[in-house]
Amino acid sequence: MTTSREVRLAHRPVGAPTLADFSIVSVETPTPSAGQFLVRNQYMSVDPYMRLPMSGQDGVHAVMDAGQALTGASIGIVEQSAHPDWPVGCWAVSGSHGWRDSYLSDGKGLTRLETLAGPASLYVGLLGLIGVTAFGGVEGVLKPQPGQTLFVSGAAGAVGSVVCQLAKIRGARVIGTAGSDEKVAWLKDELGIDEAVNYRTAGDLRSVLKTFAPEGLDLMFDNVGGDTLEATLDTMKFGGHAALCGAIALYNSDNYRAGPANFFTVIEKCIRLEGFNAGPYYPRAGEIFSFLGGLLESGKLVWRETVREGIDAAPQAFIDMMAGANIGKMVVRL
Ligand SMILES: NC(=O)c1ccc[n+]([C@@H]2O[C@H](COP(=O)([O-])OP(=O)(O)OC[C@H]3O[C@@H](n4cnc5c(N)ncnc54)[C@H](OP(=O)(O)O)[C@@H]3O)[C@@H](O)[C@H]2O)c1
Repeated sequence: MTTSREVRLAHRPVGAPTLADFSIVSVETPTPSAGQFLVRNQYMSVDPYMRLPMSGQDGVHAVMDAGQALTGASIGIVEQSAHPDWPVGCWAVSGSHGWRDSYLSDGKGLTRLETLAGPASLYVGLLGLIGVTAFGGVEGVLKPQPGQTLFVSGAAGAVGSVVCQLAKIRGARVIGTAGSDEKVAWLKDELGIDEAVNYRTAGDLRSVLKTFAPEGLDLMFDNVGGDTLEATLDTMKFGGHAALCGAIALYNSDNYRAGPANFFTVIEKCIRLEGFNAGPYYPRAGEIFSFLGGLLESGKLVWRETVREGIDAAPQAFIDMMAGANIGKMVVRL
């Protein structure tokens, strides 16, 4: 037997999640029997989408009940094995075994790695969901060109920061919003985007965007939804194109599926709104990871993580990520 600890939902959050909404529980994991192995997680991902099943609202993500354990992406090392293809010491990447110290598996749904191409944490971020999403939105949906202006909301987060850089590499002019002056400075000074603004202190976003893009925005990559999406629709050019990736501004609300109040603008300006998600791009994951890994290795892409330590810190990491405490990707080291 191995004792593992896992994070569970104690209460359905009302509004922003609090520590009281989570519990950390010890569970006994049996010694692996034939065809099984035990993985000890090293890093796990902290993601906005996890708030959706906690909400109790119907959607793609199955609704979670109080008492259920959280799930999410993780990378770990095989520590005990009775499986011929999963020897002790190899790495296991999973999309659904995070939020616990260790777990038993038969290998279904896991990716085995003998060696890593970089720090293990990359595999729950740039070389995982984040990379596939950013690549899909930029290279698959928007395909920004020189001469075009792209607005990115949530620009200093995991997806947003990669999107900004991929768009710059393609030659577009990039404007981003983020929630602190430190994030704005990082976006301009280290990521080299053209304009960045702290949406919490900037006042009316429509005026700000009109100042930065008097002719209007050609493209938008939206991580935020809500007021930000509404302001952007009002600021887009006729025939503009928006890739809708997420709507984190709504995730703590009682209807995260709500649309923009000025939806008719889409008709008036012939704006192309294109919702997308990482799913259809996963078959290209190998190609995407080698492209992004190459950019990282050559110094053409900056990747930043905000790292919290240990399973006990995981609930606060989630709460803080939802409130904007992360720059780049929020991960927990286990
Ligand atoms: N479609 C897909 O397949 C897919 C895949 C991954 C992620 N996503 C979506 O992409 C978005 C970003 O995900 P991520 O993993 O990269 O997270 P992230 O941006 O690294 O972290 C979340 C950030 O959201 C910002 N935020 C929180 N509340 C906000 C609000 N009310 N208004 C504006 N910004 C707010 C915070 O930054 P500030 O300090 O800037 O407020 C926070 O740091 C999310 O909407 C997520 O659901 C979609």
